[in-house]
Amino acid sequence: MSVKVTEWVTWVGKIDWELKKFHGEEYSTHKGSTYNAYLVRDEKNVLIDTVWRPFTHEFIEKLQDEIALEKIDYIVVNHGEVDHSGALPELMRLIPDVPIYCTANAVKSLKGQYHQEWNFHVVKTGDRLSLGQKELIFIEAPMLHWPDSMMCYLTGENILFSNDAFGQHYASEYLFNDLVDQPELYQECIKYYANILTPFSKLVDRKIKEVVGFNLPVSMICPSHGVLWRDNPLQIVTQYTEWAADYQENQITILYDTMWDGTRKMAEAIAAGIKAADAAVQVKLYNTSRRDKNDIITEVFKSKAILVGSPTVNKGILSSVAGILEEIKGLSFKNKKAAAFGTYGWSGESVKILNQILNESGFQVVHDGLKGLWNPDENTVNQCNQFGESFVENLK
Ligand code: FEO
Repeated sequence: MSVKVTEWVTWVGKIDWELKKFHGEEYSTHKGSTYNAYLVRDEKNVLIDTVWRPFTHEFIEKLQDEIALEKIDYIVVNHGEVDHSGALPELMRLIPDVPIYCTANAVKSLKGQYHQEWNFHVVKTGDRLSLGQKELIFIEAPMLHWPDSMMCYLTGENILFSNDAFGQHYASEYLFNDLVDQPELYQECIKYYANILTPFSKLVDRKIKEVVGFNLPVSMICPSHGVLWRDNPLQIVTQYTEWAADYQENQITILYDTMWDGTRKMAEAIAAGIKAADAAVQVKLYNTSRRDKNDIITEVFKSKAILVGSPTVNKGILSSVAGILEEIKGLSFKNKKAAAFGTYGWSGESVKILNQILNESGFQVVHDGLKGLWNPDENTVNQCNQFGESFVENLK
């Protein structure tokens, strides 16, 4: 079913209620997602983006309910990734000569994926496409989140089609930001930012300043995933500006994995020490082998400091801890402090390894770390309490 966004703009995307993982198995989508595509009707008709490949035929049927395909004058590809371009090959088979407006990098992406010489029209920031009474203005947005990413702005309607930026993986039949559950929406927005946009925060800030500098009125922001921002649409821009500024809350997150509960006991005793030293700080514990890694990364994003624990196994650390630290390293978090802990029975390298990874990942390691021999006894539990207390002191 299509949804009328304004008199001129119709949503022709797909709500994917069943999606559980995105980017292969990389990103959990507890609330599904949507692939937003838009049809703008003026003297010229333009389709902005398509949907993920599995929904190609459903998408084209729905599009044909709205418009005869030969009446589509232009296609805008804001981003070449397959969740937005997946239906393009079949659509272009049906209307092969329709010009595609996209960035130079999107041409590379589309050719690389689909091996077709379509009628590409490369655009740059500030280029305009007249639709008759209204115009589209193109705004390149490299690394938000891929090099080919672009936004476009519809004059008259004052709509910014922002593609992945300002989106969320959030399936809802309501489609507009003012109609959905607000805490759910916030959670999906911050998870999306934390897991996808964190490494590009400087670019996010720069791009927002650039777009704001255009002084274009914005009545609505229509991203390519999740809800459309029509109620106070700039709230998500303000929120991105805050997140892009090395965001943190008064939170400490403890990540650990454990073999025979020793490192878990250490984690809990350290948490008790933290709370004893600072009752106001939020402390959250996550077993990295049992909790969703994208949810954990969202908590790391919100934290001013983290503690990472692993027992020593085979002179190394447990694989779930190593795995999430590899992701955390790639996200280039800034302005966060850290320390490590873990049990051992024999060689005991885990804390040293964790310290090294945390340092390489940009965290300020504020303590040498704490090793616990075998299963923690009362003395080790006391040491963990004290470690938690001194960690809080080291954050000051
Ligand atoms: Fe970068 Fe929604 O694709």
